[in-house]
Amino acid sequence: MARFYVTTPIYYVNDAPHIGHAYTTVTADAVARWHRLLGDDVFFLTGTDEHGLKVARQAEVNGLTPKEQADSTSERFKEAWQLVDVAYDDFIRTTEPRHARAVQHLLQRIYDNGDIELGTYEGPYCVSCEAYYTEAELVDGCCPIHRRPVELFKEENYFFKLSRYEKPLLDWYASHPESIQPDMRRNEALGLVRQGLQDISITRTSIRWGVPVPWDDEHVFYVWYDALVNYCTAIGYGEDQARFDAWWPSVQHLIGKDIVRFHCVYWPAMLLAAGLEPPHRIHVHGYLLVGGEKMSKTSLNQIAPAELVNDLGTGAFGVDAFRHHFLHDTPFGPDGEFSHEGMVNRYNADLANNFGNLLSRVSTVVAKKCGGVGPSPQEGSPLEDVAARAYESAADAWRRVAPNEALDATWRLVRETNAYLEANEPWKAEPGPELDAVMGDALEALRIVALLATPAMPSACAEVWRRIGLDGSPTDQRLPDAARWGGYPGGSAVEKGEPLFPRKRD
Ligand code: ME8
Ligand code: MG
Repeated sequence: MARFYVTTPIYYVNDAPHIGHAYTTVTADAVARWHRLLGDDVFFLTGTDEHGLKVARQAEVNGLTPKEQADSTSERFKEAWQLVDVAYDDFIRTTEPRHARAVQHLLQRIYDNGDIELGTYEGPYCVSCEAYYTEAELVDGCCPIHRRPVELFKEENYFFKLSRYEKPLLDWYASHPESIQPDMRRNEALGLVRQGLQDISITRTSIRWGVPVPWDDEHVFYVWYDALVNYCTAIGYGEDQARFDAWWPSVQHLIGKDIVRFHCVYWPAMLLAAGLEPPHRIHVHGYLLVGGEKMSKTSLNQIAPAELVNDLGTGAFGVDAFRHHFLHDTPFGPDGEFSHEGMVNRYNADLANNFGNLLSRVSTVVAKKCGGVGPSPQEGSPLEDVAARAYESAADAWRRVAPNEALDATWRLVRETNAYLEANEPWKAEPGPELDAVMGDALEALRIVALLATPAMPSACAEVWRRIGLDGSPTDQRLPDAARWGGYPGGSAVEKGEPLFPRKRD
């Protein structure tokens, strides 16, 4: 059986989850759900990054211990993922003992291999990034990402000899040209390595809020060099070799473009230094912008998922429309502007007027002219080819982590089915075999759409499945067989329910 191991970044617990975090996590969830439909063995990991100065400082501001801060905020992330139907297989917290053991094991190996040495470092540091910058990278003396003043740090620390990994990294990029997606991000990583790599400070003595360095108890690891290891911890690194070996080769990381340097340069180098394979795939997406600015905790323009899912003044979309919006409207790769207006427009176009309208047309005509019983589809229906192409394109797009393309392909089938109904006008036709054939085809198309859209909208698609009289739920189905034309049995009761996606006023 094919394995599919998908990860999100683990999020800092200095503040609450916002739709930027939800964007990555819902995408990972949808892709995981697609692979489950394929029958793959799937492991989907998310979690929280709980050490480091940023979290320690925020805890102090809130009058909490760092652990109390981490406990309450990691719960908020779990609640957010429950709210938006994210079905992870494991939620890792970096303060768990299993994680400290894995970090110590992996970094001890690098130390034993001679790639960690004591040294001194001085330079501008951004606490929001938890990263050093060079003077040249600063913008008006500020962090290029957070546009906030940096702090000058000087420390005697252990250094990872990253400078030794220029050649191995360039070799890895060359021999694995698909490993970093899209190409633009691969080129960015290449550029960083070609500029020359400096050794990086990976421990500190000034704080205690971190994983202890096993060979020197004065030091804890810097948050990033503990955080990245989470991807190994969760599959048993250092404790269950067979489990680790089974999952690691299939790992696919989903990240935002803010953390390319860590995932595409430092992480593969650390893995090589520890004698492990670099990640199979790293998929990088852009920023969600609000009013042209990156939405972030530091810019105070964040939108909580609950503001859009539930009715908190802006108007409720519900969980399926929330997921559909970010998956269909924001291509995975470039930056995407979020606006409430854009979300309403997309909702009305795709869900109310297309998918929802198709369902109500079909169920209305079946109620009126087929006695509420769904007819079976025709062999050789004009929609058969359309459905086959929708499946092929959607499958290819989900595999490439391009949900918007997968949903575009799925919606082509929705639109073609609506057009087929408009051409045949079953609402004007007399009951009989011709009308039954058209309605059977439309029901079959709806069944296939509900199946293909399940990774994006699990509850709504299960509801469509139920309303058109099918047993079980789309998640019990197995692709590609279940997507083949002719699966709708006919003879099932079709329910004429309330509109699934009532139109919203713009
Ligand atoms: O960087 N648009 O955590 P973090 C799109 N703990 N995605 C966004 C976003 C936005 N405006 N804002 C955040 C960290 N994200 C580290 C990661 S991994 C070993 C350690 C998403 O809380 C996106 O996935 O700052 C981004 O990479 C991540 O949240 C950063 O989350
Ligand atoms: Mg950040």
